[in-house]
Amino acid sequence: TTIYLKDYQVPTFLIDRTQLRFELEETQTRVISRLSMRRNPDLIGNTGNTLRLDGQDMTLVSVSLNGQALSAEQYQVDDESLVIANISALLDQSPEQGFELSCETLIKPQENTSLEGLYKSHTMFCTQCEAEGFRKITYYLDRPDVMAMFETTIVADKRRYPVLLSNGNAIKQGELDDGRHWVTWEDPFRKPCYLFALVAGDLKSIEDRFTTQSGRDVMLRIFVEEKDLDKCDHAMQSLKNAMRWDEQVYGREYDLDIFMIVAVDDFNMGAMENKGLNIFNTSCVLAKPETTTDTAFQRVEAVVAHEYFHNWSGNRVTCRDWFQLSLKEGFTVFRDAEFSADMGSRTVKRVEDVTFLRTAQFAEDAGPMSHPVRPDSYMEISNFYTLTIYEKGAEVVRMIRELVGEENFRKGSDLYFERHDGQAVTTEDFVRAMEEASGVDLQQFRRWYTQSGTPVMHVSGHYNEPAQTYELSLSQSCPPTPGQPHKEPFHIPLRMGLLGAGGNELELNLPGEKHSGLTERVLNVTEPVQRFVFHNIPAAPVPSLLRGFSAPVKLHADLDRDQLMFLMTRDSDGFNRWNASQELAVGVMQEMLASHQQGGEMVMDSRLSVAVGEVLQHAVADAQGANELDQAMLAQLLSLPSEAYLSELAEEIDVDGIHAVREHVADALAAEHAAAFAQLYQLCQSDEPYRADAAGIARRSLKNLSLAYLMRLPEPKPLDVCFEQFTGAGNMTDVDAALRLLVNSRQPQAAALAEKALADFYAKWRHESLVVNQWFTVQATASRQGTLQQVKALMEHEAFDIRNPNKVRSLIGAFSNGNPVNFHDLSGEGYQFLAEQILQLDGLNPQIAARLLTPLTRWRRYGAQRQKLMKAELERIAAQADLSRDVYEVVSKSLSAS
Ligand code: ARG
Ligand code: ZN
Repeated sequence: TTIYLKDYQVPTFLIDRTQLRFELEETQTRVISRLSMRRNPDLIGNTGNTLRLDGQDMTLVSVSLNGQALSAEQYQVDDESLVIANISALLDQSPEQGFELSCETLIKPQENTSLEGLYKSHTMFCTQCEAEGFRKITYYLDRPDVMAMFETTIVADKRRYPVLLSNGNAIKQGELDDGRHWVTWEDPFRKPCYLFALVAGDLKSIEDRFTTQSGRDVMLRIFVEEKDLDKCDHAMQSLKNAMRWDEQVYGREYDLDIFMIVAVDDFNMGAMENKGLNIFNTSCVLAKPETTTDTAFQRVEAVVAHEYFHNWSGNRVTCRDWFQLSLKEGFTVFRDAEFSADMGSRTVKRVEDVTFLRTAQFAEDAGPMSHPVRPDSYMEISNFYTLTIYEKGAEVVRMIRELVGEENFRKGSDLYFERHDGQAVTTEDFVRAMEEASGVDLQQFRRWYTQSGTPVMHVSGHYNEPAQTYELSLSQSCPPTPGQPHKEPFHIPLRMGLLGAGGNELELNLPGEKHSGLTERVLNVTEPVQRFVFHNIPAAPVPSLLRGFSAPVKLHADLDRDQLMFLMTRDSDGFNRWNASQELAVGVMQEMLASHQQGGEMVMDSRLSVAVGEVLQHAVADAQGANELDQAMLAQLLSLPSEAYLSELAEEIDVDGIHAVREHVADALAAEHAAAFAQLYQLCQSDEPYRADAAGIARRSLKNLSLAYLMRLPEPKPLDVCFEQFTGAGNMTDVDAALRLLVNSRQPQAAALAEKALADFYAKWRHESLVVNQWFTVQATASRQGTLQQVKALMEHEAFDIRNPNKVRSLIGAFSNGNPVNFHDLSGEGYQFLAEQILQLDGLNPQIAARLLTPLTRWRRYGAQRQKLMKAELERIAAQADLSRDVYEVVSKSLSAS
């Protein structure tokens, strides 16, 4: 069954106060609820008389109303609900006056492999309630617009579970004489049940304090298993940075006396923003140099900040219904991206985010699961925690800032938080606050929330010498997506500038303007076809368009390769310098691919090599201390577009052709610039202790990029250098980079070294679960032949556990998403393998099973042979009886939409 936004109705009943008592035991948990309820006074007609509570996978022991136990004929229970059909008849007074409903239920967290609701991870009890997990804990109105005050008492064996946590403040505790103890927590803020959390376990913690702008003293605690106590410092520092940043940039302070983070190893997603008690996947909180790569350090910082920022964008102001999910997720991703930009290199952060968006979100938008930022229907909401809701949602918020300006954006967010504090609202409420605070009309802009698909924009420039004018002609369109054959034009903010021959920024005067004094403008593109004419332009300029990627569109500008090379070195916008380098490489590779496909030779346009040579010169000068350009940016400029990005751009994805061309280009660049890469590698060595700061990260990325090019040379020396880095490096970034290169080397002598490295690595790190995940991923993503057999063997390895989502992602997910040549092997064995794993997982963890489907949903993008094989696997899955709603939705949409 499909749920529609248009069917939204306000809740018939409200819950003002929720009291919960959990008795945790080894075979079952008893949950006793006391809900202070009343009929919703806002209900039109005020006639609702049927109380329907959500609940599943539990045993109901008893129900009582105002302290009176109900008899079996007074209510009905089915697989998904508890219904009291005529509540007025059971009450002495009108339901508006309020009543207390109490339930006692039994659940089995030990057997809960879905990792939704209350479950066990190792020896610890924990919860994940978003989106609809609370209904697996007790009967409730499980919807975000029902907000209550919670009081939670946890009772458990004191020796096994010395730490008992829930939201808010601990207000009472005590001991029972049977070895059990109890703690009562009270959360003073009203919240929907999806923000409820409970943790019980033998946990250790590190502690710190933070004083808010207004002087509130906040205790900060991070709880982990004892062995991980040495990996919490980075998360704690990130948390304090995030708390300060939200005060300074958004004027938002923390509001409780204690803020807790708990790390759990079995977790479906990255982390969860439960009020005052965030629960994290260990992969998003634990970090130390010996075990954690730079990328993972940055992810910890970003996710800690993301969850913390939700305290305002999500918790204080929450969503009315799940169609509004991007209200909190898009805004919060935007907030965490800006935070990371301020903590590290702003341009590099933007480059990384745009690369991800253009590769993965654009692909989603072009596939069968394509949906708007505010969807209008879903079967299973868990399937809508997507790149569109999160990353495109963040782009939509960023565009609003482009359109209203930074100052108005802050006014708008102040108004939004002030006006809606304590409420459950919609994306419309967000846009309206921005509109009212800024005075900017966002009427047409709202289409970004309702229309799916990636807009395509064509731009061409024309210089009129006699008139001294430069004319930009723009057109926009958006391809059809499931359920949306026709699109209305979008309101697109196009940030741009014009460069003169010397690279100088020209003044931009539109008709009627004399001296605007502006060298950069945000053009409002609103029509299907539109023209902008700039006056007093002395000579033909080179346009710099979509600066900072000011809108999530596919831009086709008719720039030639010389113009791209000009922009690469001269543009004042760092993002566009990088983008020009990518476009140059993409164009060259697409040309080679076309020739390759026609049986011709691959000939690389030498301008690509010239461009790389120039960047390398800067990089070497920089490493020698000239420091003119950001090293992290240089590493980005030297990175070729990924196979995944080239695939996304292709009409029909030629898996092997794309791989061959990219390898050919990388090999050629390595050969032509071998000396410079070798010099750069040496210059980027450092004796300084590891630090996960912007400078250190940049240096290591440049160093490992140089090593990657060197490893392409048909020489033994780089192999030795690489193996030495593998054995000698004191940090995981360098060790991991070297291990990957050894495993992927095509040199005959490398095979033995790679085997030794893999064995040594496992022997050394077998007790560090997160490091073992990397070990799985390195092997699963190896482009050499026989990788699928290796992956299958690893499924049987002592360290693999199909119940642990991180293990599944690092082995099965890495193979099917990060290893195009092997996954898409024409034997079809990769597809078959994935389908088998999905079917097995669906019985255990439907959310993870549904996510694994993603690569198969893209079947229409491939050639006939692969299409047929992929489709057959989807059909095999579809034919399986008793599929979860999660998998059913993705499979059926993949097979039906065209
Ligand atoms: N709200 C969480 C976050 O973005 C994600 C939780 C998603 N949970 C789920 N079961 N889909 O920070
Ligand atoms: Zn979030």
